[in-house]
Amino acid sequence: MPGFKRVLLLLCLLSVCSRGQGIRIPPRYTLREEWKQPPIITEQAPENYTVFPTDDIVLKCEAKGLPAPEYRWTRDGTVYDPSLDPRAAMNASSGTIVIATTGNGVSIRNYRGVYRCYASNEYGTAISSKINLITESTPKWRKEHVRKFVKEAGESLVLRCNSPSSMASSMILWRTSKLSDLQVSDRVSQGLDGNLYFSNLLVEDSLEDYTCYASFTDTRTIIQKEPIALQVTTS
Ligand SMILES: *[C@@H]1O[C@H](CO)[C@@H](O)[C@H](O)[C@H]1NC(C)=O
Ligand SMILES: *[C@@H]1O[C@H](CO)[C@@H](O)[C@H](O)[C@H]1NC(C)=O
Repeated sequence: MPGFKRVLLLLCLLSVCSRGQGIRIPPRYTLREEWKQPPIITEQAPENYTVFPTDDIVLKCEAKGLPAPEYRWTRDGTVYDPSLDPRAAMNASSGTIVIATTGNGVSIRNYRGVYRCYASNEYGTAISSKINLITESTPKWRKEHVRKFVKEAGESLVLRCNSPSSMASSMILWRTSKLSDLQVSDRVSQGLDGNLYFSNLLVEDSLEDYTCYASFTDTRTIIQKEPIALQVTTS
């Protein structure tokens, strides 16, 4: 019967069609690949990590991997187990260790050393770079004599920051209580040496408190210099 043949042909086409739609990469295969991920370190403390007595110590170590990596640390080549130190705690979701030293009467010097973080799962172990924990007393500015400048309008002037030296890297900022952000212009600029340069003083530059701040990037420590007053006069 021709009608019967037509139905067969239609069924056949449908089955080819549906088989065509069914061609896919089995999802199980791609999933299995995703499950297998050896650890990679994604964040760690800086190579030279300087801390001051006013800081807690944060030995950062984060890694990704599947299954989630487990962490361990060494200090100067031997196992460092934070669970043996009542002041130290490892973050539950990463390998970061926070050592609460401030207000504990504990010297940060006890924690000097070269640290290394290991993140492992069944597919491998990632090792952080060496983290050299350096301790310093909090930097202080030397006393300076000049606290006030009196200048003529149109003169130039350099306000020196002379930030104290430290192993820790810092950012220098100048502020006044009136100007939270000293606008850099063709007249006023901050040099790479941290000094503030005025090329052509105006009367409105007269302020009581030009203050240099050093913000230490590895820590939350910001120190400030004694303010410098500036009075610009016209003759
Ligand atoms: C870390 O300190 C050492 C010794 O002072 C120095 O040689 C090295 O360049 C420093 N590394 C970085 C990244 O600053
Ligand atoms: C652990 O680390 C995460 C990510 O850095 C942070 O959000 C969380 O507050 C930390 N937990 C503890 C208990 O410190």
